[in-house]
Amino acid sequence: MERIVVTDRLSGTAPEIDAVVLVGGKGSRLRPLTLSAAKPMLPTAGVPYLEHLLSRIRVAGIRHVVLGTSYRAETFEDYFGDGSEFGLDLEYVVEDEPLGTGGGIRNVYDRLRHDHAMVFNGDVLSGVDLRAVLQTHIECRADVTLHLVRVPDPRAFGCVPTDDDGRVLGFLEKTDEPPTDQINAGCYVFRREVIAGIPQGVSVSVERDTFPALLTAGATVVGHIDAGYWLDLGTPMAYVQGSADLVAGVAPTAALPKAQAHDLDRLVLTGAQVDPNATVLGGSTIGSGARVDAQAFVRGSVVMDDAQIGSGARVESSVLGRGARVGAGAVLVGVVVGDGAVIGAGCELLDGARVWPGTELPAGSIRFSAGE
Ligand code: GDD
Ligand code: MG
Repeated sequence: MERIVVTDRLSGTAPEIDAVVLVGGKGSRLRPLTLSAAKPMLPTAGVPYLEHLLSRIRVAGIRHVVLGTSYRAETFEDYFGDGSEFGLDLEYVVEDEPLGTGGGIRNVYDRLRHDHAMVFNGDVLSGVDLRAVLQTHIECRADVTLHLVRVPDPRAFGCVPTDDDGRVLGFLEKTDEPPTDQINAGCYVFRREVIAGIPQGVSVSVERDTFPALLTAGATVVGHIDAGYWLDLGTPMAYVQGSADLVAGVAPTAALPKAQAHDLDRLVLTGAQVDPNATVLGGSTIGSGARVDAQAFVRGSVVMDDAQIGSGARVESSVLGRGARVGAGAVLVGVVVGDGAVIGAGCELLDGARVWPGTELPAGSIRFSAGE
């Protein structure tokens, strides 16, 4: 197995580390897609998002991964098993009641085998060099190292100011007046003993409780600032964007599935039927068993298995759940359609509409414009 090449200059050893992935959240902002599947299990460029993250963990030379699960816990083990098919040694630790991000990390403590653990939010797509994050952690002899990125609007994230040496000065989770555009990218390296210090068996937020407490106590908390690709997939628009970026190779992964057709514009999975007179572009994925009829136009969208798009329909920046059907000539832009829902011919749905699973909209029943 390829090993992490980082060397601890202080001790002369090459540290092995565990990975911990937090996947216990309910994914509320992605409803109704997350009513039937946990957010990290939603297909993203043809495979569950988590498979992309695990592929990057594997490429970084980490073998032992612990998943902290809660919501829809069973779906992870059903798919990933013991991890051996993915080149990993996977363990699952289930929270009967969600313990929060800090509680979730504390809850896996007794599964950790090494002196340091790399912890991931299970919904972030990133191009950061994981070995470089570990390198920073070891070189700085940090208690905790945080991967940090800059974003245009930091208010929806954890804002993390640092000094000139990269020492973290504060941690302000989702603040209306962030002092900097530098945010927590959702990947940390912890010295294992720091995890032991998180209160056990109670709900703890690593962002609101653990990080501020460590800073108050004078712990060495450092930032690894990176300017590479980064996206939190927590909203429908980010989810379709992330999937398209994986298809187009903008976001790195080692887990793209074998497909009937794959180029920068599309990933058509085996068993899909795309009419030669249909247009599919913008990094769209067409799932297995899905059908796209003649003159249909699909851009930047995720079309899950067994979904259907009728002739002349237009589907842009949208998600069609498993078995969903879009009638001829319908227009969907920025829409989430739940599993098995039916959008009748000629309907027009725009900007943030969410159709619950199994709903049937009759032909021509809803428009967002006056029509002809
Ligand atoms: N095990 C477990 N238990 N996991 C949880 C729990 C829990 O109780 N609650 C949330 N998680 C997992 C989610 O499944 C997700 O993978 C991760 O923790 C982060 O939760 P989100 O709900 O996606 O948080 P966020 O996006 O609003 O904010 C977080 O991520 C941002 C970066 O994307 C914070 O860490 C911010 O500080 C950060 O900037
Ligand atoms: Mg998130």
